Amino acid sequence: MADQPTTSATSPPPPPTVSTTATAATAQHQETQGDVEEDAEPALIAAPVPEDELDEEDNDDGDSALGSDAASSTNSISASIMEYRTIQGRTYHSERHNSSYFTPNDDQQLQSQDLTHHYLMVLLDNKLFLPPIKGEDLQKVLDVGTGSGIDLADQYPHTEIIGTDLSPTMPLWVPPNVKFEIDDLTQPWTWAPDQFDLVHARYLFGAVADWTELFRQAYRVCRPGGWCQSGEADVEILSDDNTVPPDGAMNTFWNMLYREAGRKLGVSFQVIKEGLQRKGMEEAGFVDIQEVSYKIPCGAWPQDPKLAEVGMYLQATMLNDVEGYTLFLWNTVMGENAPGYQEHLAYMRRELKSRRIHGYMKVRYVWGRKPE
Ligand SMILES: C[S@@+](CC[C@H](N)C(=O)[O-])C[C@H]1O[C@@H](n2cnc3c(N)ncnc32)[C@H](O)[C@@H]1O
Repeated sequence: MADQPTTSATSPPPPPTVSTTATAATAQHQETQGDVEEDAEPALIAAPVPEDELDEEDNDDGDSALGSDAASSTNSISASIMEYRTIQGRTYHSERHNSSYFTPNDDQQLQSQDLTHHYLMVLLDNKLFLPPIKGEDLQKVLDVGTGSGIDLADQYPHTEIIGTDLSPTMPLWVPPNVKFEIDDLTQPWTWAPDQFDLVHARYLFGAVADWTELFRQAYRVCRPGGWCQSGEADVEILSDDNTVPPDGAMNTFWNMLYREAGRKLGVSFQVIKEGLQRKGMEEAGFVDIQEVSYKIPCGAWPQDPKLAEVGMYLQATMLNDVEGYTLFLWNTVMGENAPGYQEHLAYMRRELKSRRIHGYMKVRYVWGRKPE
């Protein structure tokens, strides 16, 4: 296991290099796109909002220690897991897994994940989780689909943290209380029941076909009295002042791709709109379910400094890797060699940088307790 990445604390991302800046100056709310001045300040979004490929590689697994049961859950890293699929120069998780997860697992995408982690920490005032768990009660945490890690380890050095993912995406050097496992969260989980104080799942939109089943698995492994927290985003870009142009790239490219790919792939990119977190947790048996919802700006356009910071980092996340967020979806919906992709990327970047456009996405955290 010497080479095996094992999870962890993500280091703070460097400040984004995007050109927009946060400002708290007062300005007139502009109602229509046509009326908006380039530098005019939009209305403040209130947050939180109380509720309401393939170049196929040789995947012959003859040397693998995994055996032939690809559908089993927890596995150690084998050579085949490291045999990434490549799509137009970007790498994706191994075909060993049955899943078709849509973002690459390379450094460029992991940078975006680190920036995402940062804006979500700003959004939650530096809290990693919202359930009322005291530090001393946090003995064991499971983070499914962990990506580059959830940063709990340093803050809770006595907590045992297990992070899982399809790809070995965690940094190589991690604190000793962190363990990383290659695991497909859509397959039956192999952990013993009743052991985790917190099951954490964040930004799994596009990864899960059956959310109730996901929460059933979480319920089984949670200890009685333990908690499950789900944080999700609907990546559809909306605006309250009609500044997202109906015929622009945000709408006809980004929103269209996520909508259509969701249908084709049989996964939801609209977890919030479809209410899948609360519904799944209720059906799984969790109680004391609570939630908090936000609108997160795609850019530093809000007057509120905290939201502007969130927006600046969200914009940086997207500008850093618009391709990574869309390439697989484009190929799925439009076909691999469909013309126009690069032009859409360029328009998308231009719209993301425009201060006339006051786009936002929805984020919702839902948490529930397993009864004693
Ligand atoms: C958008 S990233 C979020 C990472 C992390 N949870 C966070 O919030 O920073 C989604 C992660 O889920 C992982 N993932 C997708 N499908 C998965 C599956 N079926 N099993 C395990 N991990 C999966 C991806 O590899 C990726 O690292």
